Amino acid sequence: MTPAPPSRPLFSAERSAEVVTEAFRDTPDPRLRTVLTSLVAHLHAFAKEVALTQAELDTAIDFLTRTGHACTDVRQEFQLLSDVLGMSMLVDSLDHTGPGQASATESTVLGPFHMVDSPPRDLGESISLAEGGEPTLVTGQVLGADGTPLAGALVDVWQADEKGYYDVQRPGEVPDRNLRGLFTCDEEGRFRFRTILPAAYPIPDDGPVGQLLKATARHPYRPAHIHFIVGAQGHRPLTTHVFVAGSDYLDSDAVFGVKESLVLDFDEVREPERAAPYDLPVPFRHAHVEISLRVAEAHR
Ligand code: BEZ
Ligand code: FE
Repeated sequence: MTPAPPSRPLFSAERSAEVVTEAFRDTPDPRLRTVLTSLVAHLHAFAKEVALTQAELDTAIDFLTRTGHACTDVRQEFQLLSDVLGMSMLVDSLDHTGPGQASATESTVLGPFHMVDSPPRDLGESISLAEGGEPTLVTGQVLGADGTPLAGALVDVWQADEKGYYDVQRPGEVPDRNLRGLFTCDEEGRFRFRTILPAAYPIPDDGPVGQLLKATARHPYRPAHIHFIVGAQGHRPLTTHVFVAGSDYLDSDAVFGVKESLVLDFDEVREPERAAPYDLPVPFRHAHVEISLRVAEAHR
């Protein structure tokens, strides 16, 4: 009896990507088919380029397995892997192109520490609920792309403390929701809050991603920053940071999140008359943040 001809060519190293891609031929979702086809092509080309050995593939599978096992409700090691490989920032950039983007404030990574809701706070209130740190005032304004102030815009902020820890990393040691706040802008789109100057800090490096950084002689540090998510009706929400000018690691952020436009001066203010309206001691640091949002329709 003559065997039936194979419905697709048999696997060979030469035609590997073509054969595997063919197996995905009937994928009903066209976008999934496109993504998988390209992924297979690039993965196979990569393995051929570096002449990947069986031992190396085993090591990679073990690494990914340990990365999965390191994930918990409050830790996402795969997200961290994407961050240190620059994938998070690349996809963020790819997702922020098109009409209206040029005049909008630049975005950057969300990071893993927005894991709890920020408490609503009044304009001018302090988000610092613990002792210590350099008193700091952050003022700002949220604008539309045409420069119109966005009354009632929501500004969600969170940051590390003066030692580089988020509240969720020091449970029981600092008050719950320390250094987090949700502010509603006034009629002119303005916001203000008191805080402390954040410090640079290492990303969680006690898991597989930390081992990867060590094996590649990379440090785990991020420069000092304050996180923002800003939203206003009819506008695309913006996830970004403000980086402290002069901080260490601005040119070697472990997750590649720094953009020049996001680096701001936190000036030292010594005049008591500028401190009094905010009930701040002197000296204090002051940064002013202008945030421009894109209209929602303009993004793809
Ligand atoms: C953060 O800034 O909170 C962060 C971002 C990416 C990875 C780890 C931490
Ligand atoms: Fe952070």
